[in-house]
Amino acid sequence: MNITSATKLLAVIGDPVRHSLSPVMHNGWIADHELDAVYTALSLKSDDAASVIRAMKALGFTGVNVTVPHKEAAARAADRSESEVANTLRWEEDGTLSAFNTDGAGFVDALTETAPDWRGRVSRVLIIGAGGAGLGVGKALSAYADTVHFTNRTLARAEAAAAAVSNGRVLRWEDLERGFGAADLIVQTTTLGMAGQPSHDWPVQLCRSTAIVADIVYKPLETDFLYAARARGLVAMDGLGMLIHQGARAFELWFGVKPDTKRARERLLEALGG
Ligand code: ATR
Repeated sequence: MNITSATKLLAVIGDPVRHSLSPVMHNGWIADHELDAVYTALSLKSDDAASVIRAMKALGFTGVNVTVPHKEAAARAADRSESEVANTLRWEEDGTLSAFNTDGAGFVDALTETAPDWRGRVSRVLIIGAGGAGLGVGKALSAYADTVHFTNRTLARAEAAAAAVSNGRVLRWEDLERGFGAADLIVQTTTLGMAGQPSHDWPVQLCRSTAIVADIVYKPLETDFLYAARARGLVAMDGLGMLIHQGARAFELWFGVKPDTKRARERLLEALGG
C-alpha cells in the first residue's frame, strides 16, 4: 500500500479502541478493492466528542466508525442521522455529515447467514442485557418478532429498553429460566463470558430444541453459552458475525461496494490468534 497525501482517511473512534479489530477488517477490504485509503483507530477521551467529530471535517476524513462511549455524540454531531445512536459517519461532497447505525442491520445480516430460515422460526426473542448493544439488537429484531423480551441484572435498564421498542417486554432476571424455555431466539449482549469477565451458567438445557442462540462476545469466539448450545444441537451464532456485517454495511456506505465478508472472517480469526 502506497500512502500519499491523496490517500483517503478513515478510522474508528472510541475509548478504549486499542484492541479494535476494525482496522484489520477494513484495511483488508481496502486492499481487496485496491482503494487509495487507510483505516486506523483513534482513541478519544473527551466530554465533548461531538465537537471533536465535527472538527474532523477540517482534517479531510472520508468516514469514521464510532464505538463506545461516543455513539450518541456521533449522532448529535451529524447534520442528519437515521438514529439517536450512530456507529458510522460519512462526510458528503457538500461538506455535510451523515450518520448511520449499521449495528442492528448487521446483526440481522449475520443471523440470516447463520440461520437462513430464522424469520419463519422466530416469534419470541429474548435479549440478555439492556446496554447499547442489547437495545440496538432488540430494536432491529422487533420488526420481525411478535415480542422482544429484555432481561437485565439491573431491572430499570431492562424497563427502559422495553419501553423503547414497540413490542418490548421485561423479563425479570430471576425469571431467566422461564424466558429460556419460551424463546425462539436468545441473544446474549452482556460482557458475561468475555475473556477476563465473569461467566454465567445459562439454563441452556431449558431451551426449545428449535431455538437459535447468539452471543455478541467474540473473545473467546466460542463462549461457554455457545458451547453449551451447540452441545445441545442448537443453531448458535458467534460474535464475529455482527462485527463483520456492521462493518460491511459501513464499508458499502463509504465506497459503494459490498466487501467480502468471508475473507474478513478469515482475517479476523487470524488476528484473534487462531
Ligand atoms: P454496551 O452498551 O456495550 O451493551 P453496557 O451499557 O456497559 O455496554 O452494558 C453491558 C451489559 O452487560 C448490561 O446489560 C449489564 O447489566 P447492568 O445494566 O445490570 O449493568 C451487563 N452486565 C455486565 N456485567 C454483568 C454481570 N456481572 N452480571 C450481569 N450482567 C452484567
